[in-house]
Amino acid sequence: TNILVRREDRVGVVQLNRPQARNALNAALMAELIAALQAFDADSEIGCIVITGSEAAFAAGADIKQMAEASVIDMIDSPFIGYWDELRRITKPVVAAVSGWCLGGGCELAMACDLILAAESAVFGQPEINLGVIPGAGGTQRLTLAVGKALAMEMVLNGRTLSAEEALRAGLINRVYPVEVYLEEAIRLANAIAARAPVAVRLAKEAVNASFEMSLRAGLDHERRLFYLLFSTDDQKEGMDAFINKRPAHWRGQ
Ligand code: CAA
Repeated sequence: TNILVRREDRVGVVQLNRPQARNALNAALMAELIAALQAFDADSEIGCIVITGSEAAFAAGADIKQMAEASVIDMIDSPFIGYWDELRRITKPVVAAVSGWCLGGGCELAMACDLILAAESAVFGQPEINLGVIPGAGGTQRLTLAVGKALAMEMVLNGRTLSAEEALRAGLINRVYPVEVYLEEAIRLANAIAARAPVAVRLAKEAVNASFEMSLRAGLDHERRLFYLLFSTDDQKEGMDAFINKRPAHWRGQ
């Protein structure tokens, strides 16, 4: 009940739907979101996933009202922050389509996706310092990797927010569109990715994401093994034969 789920051709769309709370991320919403993503990940008709919010808010962060009275033991025992880790286990590409507020855990959710497309109205930030805490779902790490130490420190230490244009210039997001078309454009991009060789797409995502977690040597070795592995797929034979014979390729995902 906290999300809306639909299909647009080969794209699974999950819309966060707590407008009365600016899509604040509570435990129920996160559980529903992860279940929907896992269902799309297991669905062979789906090639790419889009997570979006409303025009006013992608998500205004973790639900402060749900956390306010928690003890440290409550936080440790809760599966809540672990839901952001579950996103890392989704094997199909995930696109965040962001409009309005994208703060705290909402910004961390967008950064856990593979691509971020934004409306001109989007505002990105990690304002946890204003609550006496710090980002807890990856913000200090993923933001720093994306925008560098200087800007990340300003955002995390002083609550600086970024407009969509600033986020684009800083390398946090992929593209900016007028608010009327940002979601349509995100779904268009997702469908374009979904039309590509499915196994190669999944391994490409895995290889790029591995660069954040491995040394260069280990990452290069990992990439090479995935590259070799693709020579066991029909799609590799099909793609190369289609190129040589100047015809479009027909992917089978095998
Ligand atoms: N948690 C719970 N409720 C929230 C919320 C949040 N993160 N953000 C907004 N809401 C609620 C408000 O309490 C308000 O509810 P009521 O109508 O019951 O009072 C409703 O949503 C509308 O909010 P506003 O009236 O404040 O709307 P606005 O348009 O004036 O401002 C806003 C929007 C700038 C996003 C503002 O609501 C805001 O600053 N929200 C908090 C942002 C924040 O601090 N996020 C970090 C959360 S901590 C976190 O995310 C930890 C982590 O790393 C995992």
